[in-house]
Amino acid sequence: MTDAQWWRSAVIYQIYPRSFADSNGDGIGDLPGITARLSAVRDLGADAVWLSPFMTSPQRDAGYDVADYTDVDPVFGTLDDAKALIARAHELGLRVIIDLVPNHTSDQHKWFQAALAAGPGSPERDWYMFREGKGENGALPPNNWESVFGGSAWTRVTNPDGTPGQWYLHLFDESQPDLNWQSPLVRAAFRDILRFWLDLGVDGFRVDVAHGLVKAEGLPDYTPPKSAGSMGGRPGAEDDEDEPELAPYWGQDGVHEIYREWHQVLAEYDGDRALCGEAWVEPLSRLALWVRPDEMQQTFNFTYLETHWQAETLREVIRDSIDAFAAVGAPSTWVLSNHDVVRHATRLAISFENQQGAGLGPRDLKRLPERHFALRRARAATALMLSLPGSAYLYQGEELGLPEIVDLPDEVRQDPTWFRTGGERYGRDGCRVPIPWEADAPAYGFNKTGASWLPQPELWAEYARDVQESDPASTLSMYRELIDLRAQYGLGANADIELLDGFGEDVIALRNGEVTVIANLGSWDLYLPDGRVLGASAPVGRNLPPDTTAWLITA
Ligand code: GLC
Ligand code: CA
Repeated sequence: MTDAQWWRSAVIYQIYPRSFADSNGDGIGDLPGITARLSAVRDLGADAVWLSPFMTSPQRDAGYDVADYTDVDPVFGTLDDAKALIARAHELGLRVIIDLVPNHTSDQHKWFQAALAAGPGSPERDWYMFREGKGENGALPPNNWESVFGGSAWTRVTNPDGTPGQWYLHLFDESQPDLNWQSPLVRAAFRDILRFWLDLGVDGFRVDVAHGLVKAEGLPDYTPPKSAGSMGGRPGAEDDEDEPELAPYWGQDGVHEIYREWHQVLAEYDGDRALCGEAWVEPLSRLALWVRPDEMQQTFNFTYLETHWQAETLREVIRDSIDAFAAVGAPSTWVLSNHDVVRHATRLAISFENQQGAGLGPRDLKRLPERHFALRRARAATALMLSLPGSAYLYQGEELGLPEIVDLPDEVRQDPTWFRTGGERYGRDGCRVPIPWEADAPAYGFNKTGASWLPQPELWAEYARDVQESDPASTLSMYRELIDLRAQYGLGANADIELLDGFGEDVIALRNGEVTVIANLGSWDLYLPDGRVLGASAPVGRNLPPDTTAWLITA
């Protein structure tokens, strides 16, 4: 694995460890389970895996609340299991990206416990964002910031003598206190954590809430505009508009210095290790600052993810993405699904407002699209995405066409969003249900006992990997075929595409190298240009039906 800058064109497959494969049958996926099933990711044609967190954690936010950054949570296995996983991945030719959570720790982390014990004004408290409250006896939070998961972003602690004490900031759950990135000690600790995993051979890091680390001086009050997503950004913000006002906790300029430092740490190692930022920053020209040559290698293109299935806006976002990133010498990335959003096999066909992180549930059942219709559209969207130059991120289960699970009973929900909003927002559990491997096995092959931390629906039998393996028309077969063609024709590695005119308003037509790609987002059939069809998201003859994308070599 010596190809330089492999990440520029890579297909990267996200594994959500809790829900991929469970080796010991306790109902929660684990590292040995992943290792045993990893060849399926190689068979798909991916170049790398990104693993969501498996470090020591009380699991209040499914592992995004880390209590020890350099050890593995017993739920997922041991450090030796992590080493075995990395070795197996490399043997299969897959790079390994792990998830690093620097914005906050778990409240069980020894740093936070020390901060609580040491009291106000201590160097230990300076690792976190402690402040005095406002109002009489400091009974009110230091400012009006809200947690991404709902409710106030501040929690008051109790002093060792039982009196009410200071408040600490948590942009997420109260069990996830924000670190103070102005502290040189915090910075040094994270450089060590990077080195620990780099020494173990990981090929890179996906950096969680990368746009949240630095908060504006003085922590001023702030009320986000209605149009802002819960993670920041402003869906729909365009490059030719005025720059949207920055939230005092998202995308502050100070973050760049941190990632320049990390860039240097990675550069000490061989093999082109990479950083990919989870930064909900818009417009694209601002996001592109994250991947300047001395910073991160990649950043997720959430603008693309949040674009509706609508030809004109999609065309613009594709054009703007390639241009904005090219301006700093970086390729774009593309993504349609992950563990925080409604699966795109459902999302792209819903027509009502649904904020990122809000999820779907029983209250939405009646207004949801029929799932085969929605899947058809998702396949067309995937076929478009995989034709674009740059790197594409896939989320486990999308290659099976899995829909969002919307009928989970209230009692099984685990996302802190559900609890912190009193059930007003369902949260993200619906995209996290353990995935099906075998139609006729316990837990659909997720394990051997049938246990599952979120209940699997009966329709999983229809989507199971073993059923799709042998069906050339399955979603799995489509992913494999298109990923293979993408590599064969070097689509990921090309610098640019040409958007083709003359195909009508509801069509996206483009040329990437030798390949012409046509996506029909309208409601009637189109004539396909003369040529040879290489692949398509649904059967095509002379015509291209609605919600279908075809790749062809034109005559
Ligand atoms: C990121 C993760 C999400 C998590 C949050 C807090 O957005 O992707 O799952 O809840 O950060 O760590
Ligand atoms: Ca397990």
